[in-house]
Amino acid sequence: MKKDLLSVADISKEDLEKIFKLSAKLKKERGRNDYKPLSGKSIGMIFAKASTRTRVSFEVGIHELGGFPLYMDQGKMQVGRGESVADTARVLSRYLHGVVIRTYSHADVEELAAEATIPIINALTDDFHPCQILTDLFTIYEYSGRLDGIKLVYVGDGDNNMANSFILAAGLAGLELVIAAPGKYRPNPELMRDFPNVVWEKDPAKAVANADYIYTDVWVSMGFEDEAAERFETLRDYQVNSKLVAAASPEVKILHCLPAHRGEEITDEVMDSERSIVFDQAENRLHVQKAILALLFDKRI
Ligand code: CP
Ligand code: NVA
Repeated sequence: MKKDLLSVADISKEDLEKIFKLSAKLKKERGRNDYKPLSGKSIGMIFAKASTRTRVSFEVGIHELGGFPLYMDQGKMQVGRGESVADTARVLSRYLHGVVIRTYSHADVEELAAEATIPIINALTDDFHPCQILTDLFTIYEYSGRLDGIKLVYVGDGDNNMANSFILAAGLAGLELVIAAPGKYRPNPELMRDFPNVVWEKDPAKAVANADYIYTDVWVSMGFEDEAAERFETLRDYQVNSKLVAAASPEVKILHCLPAHRGEEITDEVMDSERSIVFDQAENRLHVQKAILALLFDKRI
């Protein structure tokens, strides 16, 4: 694996296979093995945005692998008062063995990675959320036993960090990806260009025909709160509700990276239905991120 995980573009097919294999093993053996590849290592966790799943699963995962997780609120760091990202990277590289970072600007994370001598893991930027998407691929693999040719329909904001990550993941995994979104929040055409297996469809009911999975995400991502009213208006026909699910196959499964804003992008009825596997998906963040950390730090793998 490369030094850093900044987006799915950093992951090869071989890395993905290793992540799946190790995630399954660590999931099965949780609490029953003494695999400690982070023993004696301290991993910084810089967060500029809110988090429940990512923070907790990384802290617990680092601890379970024998390491020390150090949580840092980006707003309380000197980088918020004018210290450069590059100097921050140089200093942190002298104390820590790796950094997990959730922030706004993807360019800042790229600069941090370029200047740091230690691995940098992107825990969500405005542009990408690779730890979530690798977890989603693992969850689909657990349920379907394959990724190639699986039809996944992503419904809603087609221009956010999750949609961008799915486009790259579709390229890596051979998914048949349809992004159902209005023109205003259409998927990034430049990102889509290299992937003929990614299609943009305005009509959500048409998009979900024969879908194996329907995926959605919040309409207002972190950092875009001032656009909330406009987004609710433009995206209201893209709600994942029982009517939309009925337009897909009876076996379709529902995924959501969470947090869900129930009653907005997804209804209670769908979230709580037997088709929904969102909490298995959330659990897998822990197992998959442990596998990613192991691959970055255990040079024997
Ligand atoms: N899915 C996800 O990243 O959740 P959090 O924002 O709670 O970390
Ligand atoms: N698109 C969402 C994902 C949250 C995990 C956001 O950035 O807020």
